[in-house]
Amino acid sequence: MERIKTGVENFDDIINGGLPANSITLVSGPPGSGKSIFCFQFMYEGIKNGEKCLFLTLDKKVDGLLVQAKEIGLDFERAIEQGLAKFLFLNINKKLVYETMTNEILSGDWDRIILDSITPLSEMPICIQDTTIKSDASGFSPDDLPSGQNLPVRRIHLLYIMNALETSNATSLITSELPVGSNMLSRDGISEFLADGVITLNLDQTMDRRKLSVMKMRNTRHTLKPQEIQIGEGGITLKTSMPVSHAKV
Ligand SMILES: Nc1ncnc2c1ncn2[C@@H]1O[C@H](COP(=O)(O)OP(=O)(O)OP(=O)(O)O)[C@@H](O)[C@H]1O
Ligand SMILES: [Mg+2]
Repeated sequence: MERIKTGVENFDDIINGGLPANSITLVSGPPGSGKSIFCFQFMYEGIKNGEKCLFLTLDKKVDGLLVQAKEIGLDFERAIEQGLAKFLFLNINKKLVYETMTNEILSGDWDRIILDSITPLSEMPICIQDTTIKSDASGFSPDDLPSGQNLPVRRIHLLYIMNALETSNATSLITSELPVGSNMLSRDGISEFLADGVITLNLDQTMDRRKLSVMKMRNTRHTLKPQEIQIGEGGITLKTSMPVSHAKV
């Protein structure tokens, strides 16, 4: 199976060399746990290999993200000029956000796609009409709109997004925001079942430590044990460089 390197130092060693090609991996964690940094590294690694990478952002504006990435030594400016990297802010308050997103995902021939984060989309109310999903609710009374908190509706949102990512043939990362101290794998409680892989990032304030765990990874033998990570120049690094199966006891 083709493996796609994440660019996170020492991490690929514990997942058989990288993420399965064309898979969708959920990266979840509380605020400041390193979700966006993980995504920047994944994108940077793709660009280094000459791959086309798309970064869709729903919470933060592109300029701020580029500054944040540059701060840790990942400069995307040249890649953007060369057309290898594209950062796009999706405004969920705008009509046609779904259409814009899927058009972008399906039309670009992308090798890597990042959606940071999926949480606002999964919580957005939608209108289902003639079996197509439309984000444009104009002309309908509020009674026509299913509640965004309603589980089946959230699942439809997420399936729609996952289907687009799957169809694109890219290898994708989606992030989910977890409340501090939560034991959930995603904010919506569904994404972890739909994704091919789940990586959680955690903060241990008392010990002043950061942890990364692989909770699920399709076609991959991996440890469930939390791995200690650090964030510094270049982004996230796993503290151990030894594949777990080879590690001395
Ligand atoms: N140069 C650096 N050296 C060490 N740690 C850093 C550095 N830059 C950022 N960090 C750490 O990374 C955190 C930000 O990581 P990131 O933005 O990826 O988190 P996130 O999980 O995406 O958060 P959010 O859910 O708020 O978007 C900071 O809060 C800080 O703890
Ligand atoms: Mg973030």
